[in-house]
Amino acid sequence: MWTIPIVLLVVLLVAPTPVQPATDEYFTAAVFEFVQLYDYCPETQEQADEIVRRNLNSYKAAAELAAAQGADLIAFPEYGIFPECSREITKMFLEIVPDPSAVREAPCDFPEKYQNMPQLYTLSCMAKNHSMYVQANTGDLMMCEETKITQCPKDGRLQLNTNVVFDREGAVVTRYHKEHLWGEEGMDMAVEKQNPIFKTDFGTFATFVCFDVVLARIIEVIEEPEVDGVVFSTMWENSAPLFTSVQYFQSWAMGNNASLIAADIQLPGQLAVGSGIFHAKEGALVYTYDPDGISKLLVARVPRRGHKLKEPKASITAITHDGTYKWSHDGDDVPYETVHSAHYHLKDDLHHNRYHETDLVNYTLVQLTSPRDRLTTCNNGMCCTLDYSIENLNETFYFAVYNGTQGSFPPLFWCEEDCMLVRCDPRNDKPCSNFPLLTKNVFHHLSLRANYSTPFVYPSVVSNRMRLVPRRQWEWGVDRKHGYYESFLNFHSEKGQDILAVGLKGRCYKRDPPASFF
Ligand SMILES: *[C@@H]1O[C@H](CO)[C@@H](O)[C@H](O)[C@H]1NC(C)=O
Ligand SMILES: *[C@@H]1O[C@H](CO)[C@@H](O)[C@H](O)[C@H]1NC(C)=O
Ligand SMILES: *[C@@H]1O[C@H](CO)[C@@H](O)[C@H](O)[C@H]1NC(C)=O
Ligand SMILES: *[C@@H]1O[C@H](CO)[C@@H](O)[C@H](O)[C@H]1NC(C)=O
Ligand SMILES: *[C@@H]1O[C@H](CO)[C@@H](O)[C@H](O)[C@H]1NC(C)=O
Ligand SMILES: *[C@@H]1O[C@H](CO)[C@@H](O)[C@H](O)[C@H]1NC(C)=O
Repeated sequence: MWTIPIVLLVVLLVAPTPVQPATDEYFTAAVFEFVQLYDYCPETQEQADEIVRRNLNSYKAAAELAAAQGADLIAFPEYGIFPECSREITKMFLEIVPDPSAVREAPCDFPEKYQNMPQLYTLSCMAKNHSMYVQANTGDLMMCEETKITQCPKDGRLQLNTNVVFDREGAVVTRYHKEHLWGEEGMDMAVEKQNPIFKTDFGTFATFVCFDVVLARIIEVIEEPEVDGVVFSTMWENSAPLFTSVQYFQSWAMGNNASLIAADIQLPGQLAVGSGIFHAKEGALVYTYDPDGISKLLVARVPRRGHKLKEPKASITAITHDGTYKWSHDGDDVPYETVHSAHYHLKDDLHHNRYHETDLVNYTLVQLTSPRDRLTTCNNGMCCTLDYSIENLNETFYFAVYNGTQGSFPPLFWCEEDCMLVRCDPRNDKPCSNFPLLTKNVFHHLSLRANYSTPFVYPSVVSNRMRLVPRRQWEWGVDRKHGYYESFLNFHSEKGQDILAVGLKGRCYKRDPPASFF
C-alpha cells in the first residue's frame, strides 16, 4: 500500500530583503538541487495531487530563499515536481501549458482558470511574487484531435516532458517540449522542432532538458549570436570517467563558450547527483556533488556578456525539513567506492551513490608504468600524446584513446573522439572498468594533446570525490589548423594533486547516427 511519508514541511523565516536586480556587469542565478521526498508512483489522483503539492512547497521555500539572495532567475530540475512513472500514471500529473507563441498569459492572474493546474499556477505566482524568472520542468498534455497532430499515440494524446519558463510578471515565455528522450516510458518525443530561446532583461538564453545537452541541436541554438547561455533541467545519468554531471557540464560550458545553469535532481541510487552554475571562462561559479539526501540551493553572480566579475559571490544553502543552513564541505559524503550500475532500483535510492561505467572495450588502453613519461597512442586514425609526472605510482592509471561510436548507452549512440588519463581498476576481465573516487597518487604535471576532426572538444580535470580541479590550475585550448583542430590541456602543480581523470572529449556531431536524432 502506498503511503505518504510524514515529513515536516519546510518552514522558512526569511524576511523580504530589498532585491538587487541584475546590473550591467552581472545577474544572479540560482539552481535548486532537489531531493524529491515523495518519489513514488501514485495509485490515485488524490495521491498524485499530494505529491505535487508537497514538492511545490519545497520549491516555494527554495524560491523565497533565492529571492532573498537577489536571484534574477531560478532553475529547477527535471522530474522534480513528480517522479518518472508509467504512461497512465504520468497522465495524472499533466497540465495544459499555454503556448506563448499564441498568447501571453500569467496563470497567477487567472486563479479560476488554473484552479486544477497547481503546477502552472504556483510557479507563475512564484515568479510574480519574487519578480524573477522561473524555469521548471513539468508535463504538458496535448489532445491530438485539437492540435492537428498526425503522429499520435493510440490513446489520442501526447504526454510531453516540458520545460516552462515564466518571466518576472509570471507570464509563460517559453514552453519547450524535450526533443530527445532518455527512455521515459511515460513521455512522448516532441513532434516538431521547438523554439527554446527566451529573452530576459539580463541576456538571451535557451532552455534544454537532460539528454538534449549531448546532441547537436543544442549546438545549433547556442551558435545563434545573441544566445548567452543555457538554463538546464536534468535528471542526469552519471557515467564515469568523463560523463559525470558537474564534470561534463563545466566542460560543455567551456567547450561552447557559453554559460550553463544546471539544476539536477538528487537521486544518487538512480545515478543522479550534481548541479551548478558554469561559466565559459571561469568554469564552475558554484557547484555541488554530494549524495547525502539533502536539497541544496546554489546561488551565484554570473558575468554578463563582455564583463568580468569584480566581486564574485556564490553560496550554497542546505534546505532540510528542520530549516536552512550554510552548506560547506561539499563532497565529504562521496564514497570512495561506488555501487556498480544495476538495472534494479535500490531500496534506498537517496543514500547509495551509483554511476554508469562507460565500457572502454573499444578504446586503445595503455597502462602507466613509470613515474614520468611521454606516450603517444592511436585509435582509428586519431592519435593523442600524454606527458606526465607522478610522485608515487602504485595505483592503476590508464591512458585511453578512442575515435568512433559511443556504444555504452544502447539503444542510444553518438560519435566521440576521446583522449584521457583515468584512474581505474580491473573488473569482469576488463583491465579498466571500475572507476574508484579516491586516489592517493599525486601528479605534478600532466598534458594531453591531440588532433580532432571536430571543434567541439570538452575538457575536464577531476580529483578525489569528484572535485573539479580549479580552472586556474590548468589551461586548455582548441586551435583551428588546416583541416583539423588541435586541442591541448596542461595541468601543473608544484605541490601535487590527486587526479581521478583528465580528459578531452571530442563530440563529432556530424558523424552521429541519424537514428538518435529528432
Ligand atoms: C505569493 O504571494 C501571495 C501573497 O503574499 C501568497 O499568498 C502566495 O502563497 C505566494 N505564492 C507563491 C507561490 O510564492
Ligand atoms: C566567447 O564569447 C564572448 C561573448 O560572450 C566573445 O566575446 C568571445 O570572443 C568568445 N570567445 C571565443 C573564443 O569564441
Ligand atoms: C576518426 O575516424 C573517422 C573515420 O571513421 C575519420 O574521418 C576521422 O578523421 C577520425 N578522427 C581523427 C581525429 O583522426
Ligand atoms: C601507495 O603508496 C602510498 C604511500 O606512498 C600508500 O599510502 C598507499 O597505501 C599505497 N597504495 C597502494 C595501493 O599500495
Ligand atoms: C565495440 O565494437 C564492436 C564492434 O564494432 C561493437 O559491436 C560494440 O557495440 C562496441 N562496444 C561498445 C561498448 O562501444
Ligand atoms: C597534429 O597534426 C600535425 C600535422 O600533421 C602534427 O604535426 C602534430 O604532431 C599532430 N599532433 C598530435 C598531438 O598528434
